[in-house]
Amino acid sequence: MTDLRSKFAHYLCQTSTNPLGLVVERAQGSTIYTTDGREYLDFVSGIAVTNVGFTHPAVVEAVKAQAEKYLHVMVYGEYVQAPQVELAERLASVLPDPLHVVYFTNSGTEANEGALKVAKKFTKRRKLIAFDKSFHGDTHGAASLLGNPAYRCPYEPLLPDVEFLPFDETTALERIDETVAAVMIEPIQGEAGVRVPSDEFLPALRQRCDEVGALLIFDEVQTGCGRTGKLFALEHWNIVPDIITLAKGLGGGMPLGAFVGSAEVMRTLSEDPPLSHVTTFGGHPVCCAAGLASLNIILEQNLPQRAATLGEQIRERLEMTGKSANWGIDVRGKGLMLAVEFPTAAQAIAAMERALQEGLILTTFLHADNALRLAPALTISEAELHKGLDVLERAMQVVNRPVV
Ligand SMILES: Cc1ncc(COP(=O)(O)O)c(C=O)c1O
Repeated sequence: MTDLRSKFAHYLCQTSTNPLGLVVERAQGSTIYTTDGREYLDFVSGIAVTNVGFTHPAVVEAVKAQAEKYLHVMVYGEYVQAPQVELAERLASVLPDPLHVVYFTNSGTEANEGALKVAKKFTKRRKLIAFDKSFHGDTHGAASLLGNPAYRCPYEPLLPDVEFLPFDETTALERIDETVAAVMIEPIQGEAGVRVPSDEFLPALRQRCDEVGALLIFDEVQTGCGRTGKLFALEHWNIVPDIITLAKGLGGGMPLGAFVGSAEVMRTLSEDPPLSHVTTFGGHPVCCAAGLASLNIILEQNLPQRAATLGEQIRERLEMTGKSANWGIDVRGKGLMLAVEFPTAAQAIAAMERALQEGLILTTFLHADNALRLAPALTISEAELHKGLDVLERAMQVVNRPVV
């Protein structure tokens, strides 16, 4: 077997029946170059990961510089490693009080696992609340809070004492009571197809958690790091959760996650007993160096504001075309976390395939296969963005044709 794509199919565990299968040669900015000489404009960013674009030179430089100093030296939390300390300090400076103590992980699901464990240990309670159509990761704890039975049930039994509430229904919040350790929520649901709650919902949730003494965990793995037009989505509602979890865009393309809480909450992990939540690779110095470089770019170039402005442009343009063509297409989201919903899943998939033929990469969502994800890099140029939208608009014409 000489062909790389055949080896990919043979040796790598396949997670999809129909992988995109692009053979990547290199990636730069918003473009992926494949070995067959084609160029693809990317509107997905590795699912909201490369917020500063692929292979940002400053991130690459930080990786190289740190790799030459030291790679792994000790499990998280034992040695003082400058990249971890500097990134944690920078994060603390941009997060609201009292979210100043950071635990680094390798991924989003691990950040959520850590947050759930802290909440149970801190409150000495065991019940957890999540929401329908949520996605918090695929390890057992996070999967227990996965609000789509199709993906959750094959792995049961999972964690006991998990209750699901309808997303954005304020009256249902009464079901959160004094037995609840934590409520985990994506402030804007990602894999549900970008669901933005009404203005009252998250403030009401914060209030209910305070009333019953449950910790509120914001999973900002997808919404964080500038994606929604603010550095963190919590800023849209001025809400301070007890714990925030981050990953995806945090590492600038390197594997890095974090859960961040107050000193009081996070102290739980160092006592009674200590070492009850440890990680070998979490907060790897090379990943933290990349993360710091990426966060600095996001802040220095005010990329959250750029995401807000470009997001508005996309919405205006697609809404206008969709409306004048009477396509029945809905565009929703905030900043550069957007979904374009089609009347049917077959139409969304046909549009996605048509766009790919013209060199534009799009995907659907885990829990919404009738919608296409628009999550380009926050650094995408306006020319690239509109070139991509030209392709998308041509692809959207599938709604005028029967799709079989
Ligand atoms: C909101 C949210 N939480 C958690 C995760 C899991 O992150 P990871 O794949 O890094 O484990 C994801 C991944 O898509 C996500 O969107």
